[in-house]
Amino acid sequence: MPRPLIARKSTALSGALRVPGDKSISHRALIFGALSIGETHISGLLESADVLATAHALQQMGVQMTREDGNWRVVGVGCGGLAPPEGPLDFGNAGTGVRLMMGVIAGHDFAAELIGDESLQRRPMGRVLDPLKQMGAEVHGGDRLPLTLVGSGDLAPITYRLPVASAQVKSAILLAGLMTPGETTVIEPEATRDHTETMMRHFGAEVRIEQVTAERSITVTGEAVLHGRDVEVPGDPSSAAFPTAAALICPGSDVTIENVLVNPTRTGLYDTLAEMGADLRFENERRSGGEKVADLRVRAGKLKAVRVPPERAPRMIDEYPVLAVVAATAEGETRMEGLAELRVKESDRLAATIAGLTACGVTAWAEGDTLVVRGAERIPGGGTVETHMDHRIAMAFAVLGLVAEQPVRIDDTAMIDTSFPGFAERMRAIGADFDDSGGSE
Ligand code: S3P
Repeated sequence: MPRPLIARKSTALSGALRVPGDKSISHRALIFGALSIGETHISGLLESADVLATAHALQQMGVQMTREDGNWRVVGVGCGGLAPPEGPLDFGNAGTGVRLMMGVIAGHDFAAELIGDESLQRRPMGRVLDPLKQMGAEVHGGDRLPLTLVGSGDLAPITYRLPVASAQVKSAILLAGLMTPGETTVIEPEATRDHTETMMRHFGAEVRIEQVTAERSITVTGEAVLHGRDVEVPGDPSSAAFPTAAALICPGSDVTIENVLVNPTRTGLYDTLAEMGADLRFENERRSGGEKVADLRVRAGKLKAVRVPPERAPRMIDEYPVLAVVAATAEGETRMEGLAELRVKESDRLAATIAGLTACGVTAWAEGDTLVVRGAERIPGGGTVETHMDHRIAMAFAVLGLVAEQPVRIDDTAMIDTSFPGFAERMRAIGADFDDSGGSE
């Protein structure tokens, strides 16, 4: 059932809030816990539809998990110790879940049928399957879900240069490498989020990282023996992006988002906002569970347009829709370059962002892989935004509604639960006028 939301012009936002746990770290914590010997205890896990799909898939392959007082206990089976699943593994909307798990399954001597929702069925899987096939896995079906992946207990190590900057592809290969004799190396043209490498080390794998200019090579030693560990999952900077953007554009706002991951491979949006003149501070910086975290203090103010260079894209790939919303209120034309990857996310985010902005009376267009947004003092609003089963499109335009003259209607916000359960309530608590009760305007 679709869950529409109406976002109305709001007065200043204020107060402190927390956002749910980081999605990338949550998927990985469950996976590494499952591949370890002994128990892993996870606090702050993102309990969203996407992450629960990964948990369920691992349970279908014999991993025991229990949840007590919001903390998760995973009883690992060791690398290569998963059992063949009886039915298909359903990853719902979760690209990260299915792609990472492809790497895991590739290193096991059994077949698994992988399925997902309509959005996931449209997303390219060849980028992950090609290197896994080179290592010795087989695929029945094409390079889209549904498909059957036949793993092997006898993979061959590879050195693989990523054709696209993708942390999911890198991670799938490294995960398969854990169960492969010898050394498996991934070379990435630009650094992408490094949670897989960090967590592999945390669980006891041997990982070597070499950086030559922008290019990074990551080597994992196979036939690894991992040991269960404790993982604290910090708040997701990609979710914090929405209250951050809302506080920046609603005049008079002053909001603090507590305990947010500020790993430099994830903070491209915050660097960009600072360049736009945002009053944004990382307070109380500290380390938690091997990652850097901080409280983000955000105050509204005038922003100016900027050019966002293509090499920044891997550090903020999920944040372009909400940056486009902020850019709609800034002075001048913001140019965001190198966005080809946005076309293959949960929706074609380049097209969905332009369509949403246009529906709200904002001028925006694409020039090849560049998104251009013309800022304006007044956002007319009054339109309906189509989300195309994409949580981040839904949240980005809900934020735009907070400064629009006329209410903005989001056609369906049900998918928000894949990454940010409780989004509307948490935003209402700091003053956002969101109505998702289903009533008419
Ligand atoms: C993710 C990597 C990114 C990102 C996604 C999470 C990860 O995808 O968009 O939300 O956890 O590895 P790509 O690897 O396709 O860039």
